[in-house]
Amino acid sequence: MKHNIIDFDTVALDDQNNALLIIDQTQLPGKKEILSLTNIEDIREAICLLKVRGAPAIGVAAAIGIYLAAKQINTDSYFEFLAEFNKAKKYLASSRPTAVNLFWALERMEEIVLDNPDTKVAEIKELLREEALLIREEDINVCKSIGEYGLSLIKDGDAILTHCNAGSLAAVKYGTALAPIYVGLEQGMKFRVFADETRPLLQGARLTAYELVEHGVDTIVICDNMASQVMKNGWIDAIFVGCDRVAANGDVANKIGTSGVAILAKHYGIPFYVCAPTSTIDMNIQFGNHIPIEERPGEEITEMWYKQRMVHPYALTYNPAFDITDHELITAIVTEYGIVRAPYKENLKELYINHL
Ligand code: MRU
Repeated sequence: MKHNIIDFDTVALDDQNNALLIIDQTQLPGKKEILSLTNIEDIREAICLLKVRGAPAIGVAAAIGIYLAAKQINTDSYFEFLAEFNKAKKYLASSRPTAVNLFWALERMEEIVLDNPDTKVAEIKELLREEALLIREEDINVCKSIGEYGLSLIKDGDAILTHCNAGSLAAVKYGTALAPIYVGLEQGMKFRVFADETRPLLQGARLTAYELVEHGVDTIVICDNMASQVMKNGWIDAIFVGCDRVAANGDVANKIGTSGVAILAKHYGIPFYVCAPTSTIDMNIQFGNHIPIEERPGEEITEMWYKQRMVHPYALTYNPAFDITDHELITAIVTEYGIVRAPYKENLKELYINHL
């Protein structure tokens, strides 16, 4: 039977507890393929190559990935198990540097092992399975809650601009930046979304447009350099983006180009909202410029989407995958616990004290 790809959760554990199931996002929208990955090398490669991508989805994939790796460790000795587990954790953690959800999920899984030194290895493996599935389940609820809070910032009929893909494909369901739209749709509202294509990997054109259209949302894809014009035309009521890491002062790392959108939004007086589960907030990093930024191969700029290389072979490239948006440009950060506004340093701290 052929399924509509949008019926699948973006990241799941198969019923036999043997494989990570992901939608291969490098193939969308042309080819709709579910990958079933059983070994840690393939799972790490899937994260590196962005077959599974978006901060929350990376976290869930890593949690399921480390469970599968742990399950394959062949020993009854706790200390041998712990040593092998740590190797696998380090290996998966080396896949991508910016999205803190990756490290957050792996650390949650590690805590299960560290908290149970007197438990049989077979039982620890079962606890790891339960924790991975809990992380996955929580992601759905957290994103829905972000959607509900985000929806309170817009009204039926609004036009939203978004950058990259922070929708259902970037999490298990709902996503973060697109969650308010999906929650609104469930309540019978309608929105129009301008999706920045998001050079160089085109997450906006390929993924955001795909999932929104499949959900019946009016979607207009624009090249990144058109954002200013649509804002100037008065066509945008609000901007919603996701993020890969929020520093303690409210600076935000998100897909390259996000900070430019925020600067334009300020110029045109349009609210700029960042949607972030608390798993994306890194209170250990004080300022955005301390967040590690991934650099990717120049071929993503020069060759990837062209029949033949379109840049002179001797030209150099610079391909940072993320940039930092200064907290002063952010109207509010929408979390699963509520909407955080400036002063971010104080208010993020309060959010942590009250909820985490
Ligand atoms: O390189 P990607 O595609 O993983 O980058 C994704 C983003 O920048 C998203 O906006 C971010 O991870 C938030 S996803 C809810």
